[in-house]
Amino acid sequence: MHQAKRYLVTSALPYANGPLHIGHLAGAYISADIYVRFLRLSGKDVVYIGGSDEHGAAITIKALKENTTPRAIIDQYHEEFKDAFTKMRVSFDMYHRTSEAIHHSTSQEFFKTLYEKGEFQEKESEQYYDEEAKQFLADRYIKGTCPKCSYEEAYGDQCENCGSSLSPTELINVKSTLSGNEPVLRKTTHWYLALDKYEEWLKSYIEDGTLDGEYHHDPESWKNHVVGQCKSWLDGGLQPRSMTRDLNWGVDVPKEIPGSEGKKLYVWMDAPIGYISATKQWALDNDKDWEPYWKDKDTALVHFIGKDNIVFHCLTFPAILKAHGDYILPVNVPANQFLNLEGKKISTSKNWAVWVNEYLEDIPNKVDELRYHMIKIMPEQRDSEFTWKGYQDSVNNELVNNLANFTNRVMVLAHKYYDGVVPAFDENQGIASCNDQDELSFHDSEIITLFDALSELGQHIRDFDFRAALKMLMQVSSQGNQLLQFNEPWKVVKTDPELVKVVINLGLQYVAALSIGIRPFMPDTSDTLRELLGLPQIKEEGEWDDMMNTLAEGESLLISEGHQINPAKHIFSRIDDELIQKQVDKLFATSSDAAAPAVSIKKTVQFDDFTKLDIRTATILEAEKHPNADKLLKLTLDLGFEKRTVVSGIAEHYSPTEVVGKKVSLLANLAPRKIRGIESNGMILMAEDESGKLAFISPENGMVDGAVVR
Ligand code: 2FM
Ligand code: ZN
Repeated sequence: MHQAKRYLVTSALPYANGPLHIGHLAGAYISADIYVRFLRLSGKDVVYIGGSDEHGAAITIKALKENTTPRAIIDQYHEEFKDAFTKMRVSFDMYHRTSEAIHHSTSQEFFKTLYEKGEFQEKESEQYYDEEAKQFLADRYIKGTCPKCSYEEAYGDQCENCGSSLSPTELINVKSTLSGNEPVLRKTTHWYLALDKYEEWLKSYIEDGTLDGEYHHDPESWKNHVVGQCKSWLDGGLQPRSMTRDLNWGVDVPKEIPGSEGKKLYVWMDAPIGYISATKQWALDNDKDWEPYWKDKDTALVHFIGKDNIVFHCLTFPAILKAHGDYILPVNVPANQFLNLEGKKISTSKNWAVWVNEYLEDIPNKVDELRYHMIKIMPEQRDSEFTWKGYQDSVNNELVNNLANFTNRVMVLAHKYYDGVVPAFDENQGIASCNDQDELSFHDSEIITLFDALSELGQHIRDFDFRAALKMLMQVSSQGNQLLQFNEPWKVVKTDPELVKVVINLGLQYVAALSIGIRPFMPDTSDTLRELLGLPQIKEEGEWDDMMNTLAEGESLLISEGHQINPAKHIFSRIDDELIQKQVDKLFATSSDAAAPAVSIKKTVQFDDFTKLDIRTATILEAEKHPNADKLLKLTLDLGFEKRTVVSGIAEHYSPTEVVGKKVSLLANLAPRKIRGIESNGMILMAEDESGKLAFISPENGMVDGAVVR
């Protein structure tokens, strides 16, 4: 498929409902960025599409929680995403958003075409409805236990634990995320896409790589876990899936369709169409034609996603595209698995994450360092783990000790011996007859070794094997280092000046090769190296192919004899323990998950809820055992302005004499309640540990009675 005339590459559109973390980056963004930069370096026609996913319950629920509007939420996160991607050098040609008019019209056109072609079944069904919130509960508005993996926080449309796509009625112990209540079932009508109708067709697409009997792609080129997940879906049998929702935020079902009122497109129908509308916008902005990128069979369409999106990109969206009829299908969906953090799943709600914007603020000017480490640990085939220590080791042991050390050494030596001018050398230096036919000079044989390593690197990128590609890059640097190590120019510069010329010339060819080879992984470092070498900046317009041709010809060089380089400089610096410790401390200090509390934190309340509680300081004046209950004490409290009776369940822990005179905090506006015959007017606040031990929450001595606690 690499004979493709052009490439359309996409990264999953992140929900604009929370900041980006390193798990996002490792999943669908750095991977895609490596790929597209490499394609551009190879002179390919490529358009790289991304954008914010601004519909769906993820957005409206967030708005509700924060007492604001979906518009305010998406505007905030869209800008944040754009900024984070730019700073991380994720090089989208278009970063779009699904709230744009062009996206709404494109998705509606899709929906209408499918409707007119009779692709939908209109069905009345019973769906969950929250009687308190007076609303149907689509997707993320309901939570329950996943029937596949028993994860208790699965959503109505998907389990984020096992990646299964679900329908709400499959969930066990369903709760409304709006009210926490158990929802009721109510009738509603929706449009369903008959995925079952496409089951056989999808099977041949996924398992054989054929479309309607014709070769489409090599199924072996897809990742095992991607094909595996699809197969298990197909084996389970596909069901018709509703493509609409009862929601008030999203793309309207086209007005012309009877019964469209109040109905929106399902977010997983509109979001992938977002790739198409974004391409349209890119074409408009750049005076291009969008259609060949989506309709010409010579285009290779590649979707980069995380594993929780596999079913939507490999089965649902292809079925939608097929149902429409005019579109091409992805030649590969190189999904990544999940990235864990310091031994745990990354969790937005528990703040167990490394947030991209915080990283950029806390550790400025270390974008490539993060990119490098993320690529090194990329969860390509299985889940992987980010640790701060691992990050530090990558930077110090690999980037500083290998890459920066090598490039610096060569340039320092070039300055020392030749005033920074690339030395000319004797072509016949070190000629060694390897076999009967070929006689290779030292320089030539080294250039061949370099060429071979770079070829392998390139092939790994084409195969979406980015970890292996990065390893090859570091191997190139190691080879360069060995060249210096073996030949020890500093020892022989006086005795064998001709050899030193070859070695330094070669060393500089290596650095020049690295300045291009490094580009897909660490674009800023590529810029720095080019600057140090005094070579033109990389524009990603075929430089890789030019390099490989130059090396293959064996005559011209990547950096010519007589060329003046700039003063040497270390391109990476060490990361010290203190910085790493700070990040680890921050992670643990700010996460609600860090100490794994025995009793989990209750649902968030708003400040307004808190202000309804009237908590006062008070002193226990008198205490006696409750006449009718062993566990209770009857207390008389002094609030300064009044005295009142409170019944408290502390008799097992405190005797009456122990508590008299104690300062306490009292929930003073709790509705009065008769407890075993005595009216209690409020509740004393106590802390209780796991073993049930109780302690008073006492104001510091000296605080007056009746003071407001807030
Ligand atoms: O999982 C997510 O974050 C989705 N918003 C991804 C959508 S990808 C595409 F279809 F737009
Ligand atoms: Zn599950």
